[in-house]
Amino acid sequence: MTTILLTGITGQVGWELQHALAPLGNLIALGRDGMDHANPDSIRSAIRSTRPDIIVNAAGYTAVDKAESEVGLVTRVNAVAPGIMAEEANRIGAPLVHYSTDYVYDGTQERPYTEDDAPNPLNTYGKSKLAGERAIREVGGTYVILRTSWVYSARRSNFVLAILRLAREKPVLSVVNDQVGSPSCARALAESTAELLRKRHLIQGHEGVYHLSASGQTSRSEFAKAIIRIMREISGAKGGWAEITPITSDQYHPPLPARRPLNPVTDKSRIKRVFGIEMPDWESQLRSFLPELAARVT
Ligand SMILES: NC(=O)c1ccc[n+]([C@@H]2O[C@H](COP(=O)([O-])OP(=O)(O)OC[C@H]3O[C@@H](n4cnc5c(N)ncnc54)[C@H](OP(=O)(O)O)[C@@H]3O)[C@@H](O)[C@H]2O)c1
Repeated sequence: MTTILLTGITGQVGWELQHALAPLGNLIALGRDGMDHANPDSIRSAIRSTRPDIIVNAAGYTAVDKAESEVGLVTRVNAVAPGIMAEEANRIGAPLVHYSTDYVYDGTQERPYTEDDAPNPLNTYGKSKLAGERAIREVGGTYVILRTSWVYSARRSNFVLAILRLAREKPVLSVVNDQVGSPSCARALAESTAELLRKRHLIQGHEGVYHLSASGQTSRSEFAKAIIRIMREISGAKGGWAEITPITSDQYHPPLPARRPLNPVTDKSRIKRVFGIEMPDWESQLRSFLPELAARVT
């Protein structure tokens, strides 16, 4: 039976992966207590003692603003740990699946970024994720790096949960309209990752970076409007939700510590071509997701 080692199980993606990957084999699901990504010895010993057939790394330092003042920790978790995981995966011949971000791009390009376009991260988080990708690539072996975008789920903190909370507390919410992305539901990402693992025979010879996020794109403010519009439809309530006022990133107050790329939207055709994987468009993902939250917030 295939043994899959999954890390980051308390996170948005890792939590959903526990369910999505369970049918694929014997799942060893580790949180921080089973593998501390800031500690190379902990990474090595967890992999050496479990000797998995596949490693899926959903752990990462994701606090984009806090990262600006925790460069040492961010570097250990996002830049160094992936390389160590790749070394250990390579030693035992296990494919490594790792997540990265569209924040590796500066977001100034007018057309969607392909995996061959040059990254140029604007903040510490993006730089650390790019360094992690490069560390994996330098080791080589059998690996896939999935650059995703604007992840949300029913857990932890994310844009959807923040909008749903604030939209009940305030009459008007100012949301930036100049940051564009492809909001991706953690469950859909986990399902696409499971699909990738079902086709893992294709990884060898196709190692590299792949864009994997929702089809389509939207701005933060249009995304916020869609969240409220769909929630109103579900609850049948007309009032009680904030109106969204679009603002630019420069108008956001107080300014955030980390600069965000404005238009890091990615072209997802490579993963479709190689693995036949395409995530649903962002709005249908949101429509499938919101009903499970409706009881909580309406
Ligand atoms: N969230 C997004 O919008 C987004 C966008 C693009 C790409 N990504 C990438 O997608 C992946 C998954 O993101 P996510 O949203 O699921 O992240 P998340 O919800 O913030 O979860 C992060 C996970 O990493 C774990 N972790 C952090 N530091 C650790 C350490 N030192 N040792 C062990 N575990 C540690 C956390 O454990 P604790 O619970 O113990 O803290 C948690 O399980 C990450 O690689 C991220 O960079 C995310």
